[in-house]
Amino acid sequence: MARDMTEFSGSRVLVTGGLGFIGSNLAERLVELGADVTLLDAMIDGHGGNFFNTAPIRDRVKINLSDIREETTLGHLVRDKDFIFHLAGQNDHVLSLTNPYPDIDINIKGTAVLLEACKRHNPNVRLVYTGTRGEYGTAVKLPVDEEQPMNPRGIYELSSLTAQRLFHIYHHNYGVKSITLRLTNIYGERAQMLHHRFGVANWFVRLAIDDQVIPVYGDGAIRRDFLYVADTVDAILQCAACESAYGDVFNVGNNQVSSFGELAREIVRVSGTGRIEFVPFSPERAAAEPGDFCSDITKIGRIVGWTPSTSLADGLARTIAYYRTHQSEYWSSP
Ligand SMILES: NC(=O)c1ccc[n+]([C@@H]2O[C@H](COP(=O)([O-])OP(=O)(O)OC[C@H]3O[C@@H](n4cnc5c(N)ncnc54)[C@H](O)[C@@H]3O)[C@@H](O)[C@H]2O)c1
Repeated sequence: MARDMTEFSGSRVLVTGGLGFIGSNLAERLVELGADVTLLDAMIDGHGGNFFNTAPIRDRVKINLSDIREETTLGHLVRDKDFIFHLAGQNDHVLSLTNPYPDIDINIKGTAVLLEACKRHNPNVRLVYTGTRGEYGTAVKLPVDEEQPMNPRGIYELSSLTAQRLFHIYHHNYGVKSITLRLTNIYGERAQMLHHRFGVANWFVRLAIDDQVIPVYGDGAIRRDFLYVADTVDAILQCAACESAYGDVFNVGNNQVSSFGELAREIVRVSGTGRIEFVPFSPERAAAEPGDFCSDITKIGRIVGWTPSTSLADGLARTIAYYRTHQSEYWSSP
């Protein structure tokens, strides 16, 4: 069931992290829906911010190069908004293994700054937060539904869970309405392609396009519910447009599950280049690896009416075609 999206037409929207992977795809869709869109991004090193991501909509969005932690700027930016999508975050899982402070500072304090700004200056705004499935940690039972225990294994995942809880506290204590989402592994156009510290499916795509070896850890049997970015954007928007979803948390994942080995084989098949090699886990990767994971998406289907619609083969074909066309914008830093 597709939800009515007309309420975004003419609405004033802020997307934090709007020059990044998911944020820029979301921004493009919001512009198509007729929203008045402002993107906030601090273009943090090593993350997915890329000016080219907004090339098709550059003259139809406002871009504010600020940091989510700047209280005065946030106080100003949230004032007149109808919707805020909070996607700015430190998401470098490898960095968070060695330095906990950016996660704590950006994901927890940054979220608190945003929520305080809303509470003070625009308590009627509606917010959506994109957290991670990593908040669950190792799955107790598959597929993982929203009632399962939360056992984040790393600082990044803990900071995402804490941010999610902050949203709930502001929703329930101060009436600042929000929806929090737990996204699975997302792949697709406009992700950073400079390193493999996060976004493994996209990194495999780069290796295949470069006709390189794709190193798959272990025997490649660990399973995930990889989700295409356009489906992810659709989930975010359908939630935001669903009044009864506010105050709740939803998994955003896929009921098609693939192992890392299957993902790599599909990328090689669709691209026609690259090859696979199975390699041992590094100690850091082994420590952070939660094992098999797939999301139970019954709840978002029941309450919001969203289900994914893109097959892995189609999503990969579109992703590979995009990067082949725009390779120079993603293969090296500007
Ligand atoms: N991509 C995934 O598979 C995935 C999965 C689960 C959750 N998420 C979450 O979704 C959100 C968006 O992820 P993405 O994949 O688009 O990442 P991304 O790195 O492409 O985008 C994040 C953007 O946030 C910006 N940013 C970081 N810190 C900032 C700050 N202090 N102030 C302002 N801007 C800041 C970065 O410059 C970047 O452009 C993140 O919070 C991430 O943790 C992503």
